Amino acid sequence: MTGTQNLKLNTEHLKLRIKLFMNNNGEQYDSKKYLDMDLLRFTTAGSVDDGKSTLIGRLLYDSKSIFEDQLEAIEKTSRSSGEEEVNLALLTDGLKAEREQKITIDVAYRYFATPKRKFIIADTPGHIQYTRNMVTGASTAELAIVLIDATKGVLTQSKRHAFISSLLQIPHLVVAVNKMDLVDYSEDRFNEIVQDFRTFAKKLEIDNITYIPISALVGDNVVDKNGKTSWYKGPTLLHHLENVKVDASHNVVDFRFPVQYVIRPNQNFRGFSGRIESGRIRPGDEITVLPSKLSSKVKEIVTRDGNLDEAFPGDSVVLTIEDEIDISRGDMIVRKNNVPKVTSNFEAYLCWMNEEEMQPGKQYMLMHTTSTTAVYVDDVIYRMNVDTLRREDAETLKLNEIGRVKLTTAKPLFMDAYQVNQRTGSFIVIDAASNVTVGAGMIRATSTESRESETADVKRETGSTHKLESKTKHSPNVVWEPWNIPKEDREKRNGHKAQVLWFTGISGAGKSTIAKALEKKLWGSGKQTILLDGDQVRHGLNGDLGFSPEDRTENIRRVGEMARLFFEHGNIVLCTFVSPYQRDRDAVRKLFPEARFVEIHVTCNPETAHQRDPKGLYEKAKKGEIKDLTGFDGEYQAPEHAELVINTDEMDVDEAVETIINKFAAD
Ligand code: ADX
Repeated sequence: MTGTQNLKLNTEHLKLRIKLFMNNNGEQYDSKKYLDMDLLRFTTAGSVDDGKSTLIGRLLYDSKSIFEDQLEAIEKTSRSSGEEEVNLALLTDGLKAEREQKITIDVAYRYFATPKRKFIIADTPGHIQYTRNMVTGASTAELAIVLIDATKGVLTQSKRHAFISSLLQIPHLVVAVNKMDLVDYSEDRFNEIVQDFRTFAKKLEIDNITYIPISALVGDNVVDKNGKTSWYKGPTLLHHLENVKVDASHNVVDFRFPVQYVIRPNQNFRGFSGRIESGRIRPGDEITVLPSKLSSKVKEIVTRDGNLDEAFPGDSVVLTIEDEIDISRGDMIVRKNNVPKVTSNFEAYLCWMNEEEMQPGKQYMLMHTTSTTAVYVDDVIYRMNVDTLRREDAETLKLNEIGRVKLTTAKPLFMDAYQVNQRTGSFIVIDAASNVTVGAGMIRATSTESRESETADVKRETGSTHKLESKTKHSPNVVWEPWNIPKEDREKRNGHKAQVLWFTGISGAGKSTIAKALEKKLWGSGKQTILLDGDQVRHGLNGDLGFSPEDRTENIRRVGEMARLFFEHGNIVLCTFVSPYQRDRDAVRKLFPEARFVEIHVTCNPETAHQRDPKGLYEKAKKGEIKDLTGFDGEYQAPEHAELVINTDEMDVDEAVETIINKFAAD
């Protein structure tokens, strides 16, 4: 059974010439009445086979809201593909590719009306990798229909849709249990699914959930009841859609006007065009402009159809103001006494939409209202398991995963929490290189304060800040400056990728010897290289550090940050540090994209190292002149996930260099 079931509709039925905006009695709606009609925006979500397209088709067809030409086209398509009956799913599966693959692949908006209400459906696809469209298509919906196949029950995908709906704060949810015809209209089966879903939904923030047993194929309880589910006393789906109470979801309190363009046709006129995202405004109201914080008053609200006395959410207008203030695109005009948070550090729920997993620390672009800026994901606080609604530890987010993250933008944003203002509380993340939307986010809280208190906690617990992960640490009142010349440009000119080769091992294992020989070879073949060595760095930059565990951790943290600077500048960075602790090496690893950090464990029999004793340290240790020498009496935690192990008892320097070049430094 698939979602593109054929529907047995007789030709007589098809020949009914149905026009959009024609009600059941064949009366034409007058357009004025239509414009004034109450509107419900809803979204549908289901898996490929749940029958979503058929359901929408059924809604349109039975409520007699199909365009005449659409109907004819479907009739033709069905006939030409040799189908005896009309395939109702073709009504909604508008795209050719979809028809061929028999899955729905993009968001489509559809409009229909009944005498009671007009509707906009954001038809979001069900296939698992298309959650992105659920997010982008659902954000203005007042109601979400989650389709569940009665033969399959509540699947992860249904839960994901419900969770996203709750995250997006869609106030009403309809759980449509479809394909009831295939379970003999069993009341028990329906109740079982309802029970399952209820257990799950307890943890969601959705107040209003309605469960309806339907058969989109046969038409049961979609628009009409056909008596097969006489045990069900609730409304049909359409009846529910027509009657569900939707409060105006607009935020009319907080005036937010992101400036789209500055309009200056001549010396006498200077206006700021944009869309009122929330709140209302009248001439004479006192306003403040962000980020300059300069204040003035609204002079006029200009539109193509004349000036307005008041403007509301959703209105696209041009504002003129009393004083000459410097305002540009991306600025925001707000009310003087109602100003959003201005910050570049905040927390958000991020839904990752790209095949390539998110890379913490990588520079992405963020679009928020009319402003675009560089953004870095500092930290994944947790990932949400959509099945269990439990929080899980995570380093990154993969395709379709949703997590709470900390972000830093290059430019401060003017933001509200999504809960308060969906417009100024949401954003999308774009991969700068490919221009693809890779994530969508909802701002939860601005986190400057929480981050400061977190630092204090770490200090209290450990007596030092060294253990605080480097990527969440920065000086107060600093704003991250994007890299001047993107790494990609530098790599292009250098003719090779930037990379970090991290050599770890006990003193005397051969790290420096191999790294030096390797660097010479790379340098000789025209590569941009940097060599950072423990003994050198500890003369100067890290000269204040000794060899206690805390100092070694701090040593590696600083070196990691330094390697990152060189890496971002396009270099192959060779680092030779004892770096005895797994946790410290892991923290450095996290600063880089996965394939670009290579951990090489240079090892040998400790006896060999003691004999080599290049700096005479083992000799001193034996005499008790130095303590905690790694490889003698100091701890060394061998790497758990080194990309390469080089045993210098078995391999000479040239071989080691060849191995590394062949494996990691080829491109
Ligand atoms: S780490 O442990 O903090 O990673 P790092 O690689 O920077 O050490 O420095 C190690 C170098 O410091 C060694 O090559 C050695 O010359 C010198 N050194 C001095 N004392 C010690 C010690 N107790 N343990 C290890 N190396 C030491």
